[in-house]
Amino acid sequence: MNLILLGPPGAGKGTQAKRLEDRYGLRQVSTGDMLRAEVRSGSEIGLQAKTIMERGELVPDAIIIAMLAARVSQADVADGFILDGFPRTVPQAEALDLMLQQKSMPLHHVIELQVDDAALVDRISGRFTCAKCGEGYHDSFKQPKAAGVCDLCGGTEFTRRADDNATTVASRLEAYHRQTAPLLPYYASRGVLRVVDGMAEMDTVAGQIEAILGPLPQKG
Ligand code: AP5
Repeated sequence: MNLILLGPPGAGKGTQAKRLEDRYGLRQVSTGDMLRAEVRSGSEIGLQAKTIMERGELVPDAIIIAMLAARVSQADVADGFILDGFPRTVPQAEALDLMLQQKSMPLHHVIELQVDDAALVDRISGRFTCAKCGEGYHDSFKQPKAAGVCDLCGGTEFTRRADDNATTVASRLEAYHRQTAPLLPYYASRGVLRVVDGMAEMDTVAGQIEAILGPLPQKG
């Protein structure tokens, strides 16, 4: 099954994509994570992307489309993927249509996580991540069970993203409404858009998504 999770910054795309990976055996493909890895490695793409991301603007389509095309050609996504953070513009969506058509891969669902702008600022400013395994947490909504220790890997170091500050969040939201929101009618007109209430608690949001996707795959 191939999915897109669509929604503004902080809507819960990454949180829900991780759950779907575990429960449905799909592979999360996050263009934000891929760009942050490029920045950390100091690559040419990373150097170009760093200042754009710090301003909360979108990285140029040509860079993102080439990066995504290389990623969806890898064997580990052949059984299904969850696109998290891509597409973000109409040209990216058109490029994705072409890529999937060339590979005879269907797009099953585009799931919009609807969250009020005011809640997004709280979610983003409270977010932190395990430095070792990448598990996501939140100051108010999801603390590790033992303070300062990652539930998954036992790591004790945590990081916060450079673009998770009030000024950058405002530009990221502006970019979402101006450049990404036009994808909602784009996918609605193709009959694949499904909407969930992203304001609900994480487990409730996961339940809404599972109701759209249908029964979990049989184990064994
Ligand atoms: P990217 O990394 O994609 O960031 P984003 O879209 O801004 O989304 P986030 O990762 O901030 O949020 P999320 O929806 O995953 O929320 P999360 O689950 O973490 O992109 C970063 C930058 O890279 C962009 O600004 C751009 O510059 C560039 N870029 C990336 N892709 C691009 C593209 N295709 N084209 C051009 N440029 C691109 O949740 C947030 C917090 O809320 C967490 O702490 C979580 O615990 C909590 N939370 C989650 N769900 C709930 C809930 N239901 N209730 C309460 N708390 C919740």
